[in-house]
Amino acid sequence: MSETWPSDLGPVMCVVGARPNFMKMAPILRAFAAHTPVIPALLVHTGQHYDRDMNDRLFEDLRLPRPDINLEVGSASHAVQTAEVMKRFEPVLDERQPACVLVVGDVNSTLACTLVAVKKGIPVAHVEAGLRSYDRAMPEEINRLLTDQIADLLYTTERSAAANLAREGIAAERVRFVGNVMIDSLLSNRQHARAPAATIALGGGDPALIAAAEGYGVVTLHRPSNVDDPAVLAALLGVLREIATGLPLVFALHPRTRQNIERFGLQNLIDRPRMLLLPPQGYLEMLGLMAGARIVLTDSGGLQEETTALGVPCLTLRENTERPITVNQGTNTLVGRDIAAIRQRTAETLAGHGKSGRVPELWDGRAAERIAADLAGWLLARHGGG
Ligand code: UD1
Repeated sequence: MSETWPSDLGPVMCVVGARPNFMKMAPILRAFAAHTPVIPALLVHTGQHYDRDMNDRLFEDLRLPRPDINLEVGSASHAVQTAEVMKRFEPVLDERQPACVLVVGDVNSTLACTLVAVKKGIPVAHVEAGLRSYDRAMPEEINRLLTDQIADLLYTTERSAAANLAREGIAAERVRFVGNVMIDSLLSNRQHARAPAATIALGGGDPALIAAAEGYGVVTLHRPSNVDDPAVLAALLGVLREIATGLPLVFALHPRTRQNIERFGLQNLIDRPRMLLLPPQGYLEMLGLMAGARIVLTDSGGLQEETTALGVPCLTLRENTERPITVNQGTNTLVGRDIAAIRQRTAETLAGHGKSGRVPELWDGRAAERIAADLAGWLLARHGGG
């Protein structure tokens, strides 16, 4: 391979929109810079997440460069948000003429930018392709299905993804099993994780309470299916309140969840100080909190993978997962919204019968390197071949 990127081949335009994209993109940009030849990159932020807590702190923690372009779309309905990203992304493509667009994950920005690029004849690479929950009520599932149908290169994190894609008629030569870039971020930042006691004290928690209880659990909830219905959210907070009588719980609250607790008048279910409500956390704080937890209860996709990599038992408060390897090989157990199951699996885990699991194949910290090598090879061969 030549030492320099051809002057007539554009950069790779890398798109991020929402919090879970940032930890996936950071190692990819570093791998592009370390590749020979250096792969020129432009970072586009759609602005889907914009709060300091949801955005700026993560950029700092992950050492992400400032975006070259910010589309500043902000919050809106799915239709309006997706449409705004599309409208604002199109002129950026016209102006910058990238060699390809790289998208990650399954948020609205992922699909919106893919759709615009593909229709302009610009190839798209999708990182974290092929994951399926088979639950079309999840907006992310629609984003995954459609993005994978039309993207050119599909980089996967686990082998089950290839079977999902084959079932949808996608040719095997578009699919490349490279491992998990989210775990690249986790491994490269692990030694910089913030001590949980400091995060808890800073958030107004009582480290003595946690010492007395011999630990704490971590909770995150933000899926519309769990937090948008007052009865569901009340039932979940109710069982968490019960659990907190034995094990103090630290919540990192998504803005949607905080708003809904207030809107539905559920503050009385928060048993302070045994339930500590924190704002969304920085990456290094969250990593420290998870690594030190006795149990994690979550509906996040990313936390299912991160707890598996850390060997921390995870209960997923969803009926399904698009990341089955975390259940088959890792530390994850699906408990849905079944209150009795949440209670029972938590008790078993705290009694020392939680899942220990093993780290899945290619979750080794080098996924981004493999993507850089493969993508550069593909783009240069296409360019050279005319
Ligand atoms: C989005 C992603 C979801 C991901 C989640 C992680 C889609 C369809 N969903 O969901 O896959 O797991 O991000 O956080 O793309 N808000 C703020 N500040 C912000 C961003 C959001 O206050 O910086 C509030 C707004 O009230 C907004 C609500 O949170 O209406 C939801 O934000 P939105 O970006 O629509 O979706 P998420 O639920 O965050």
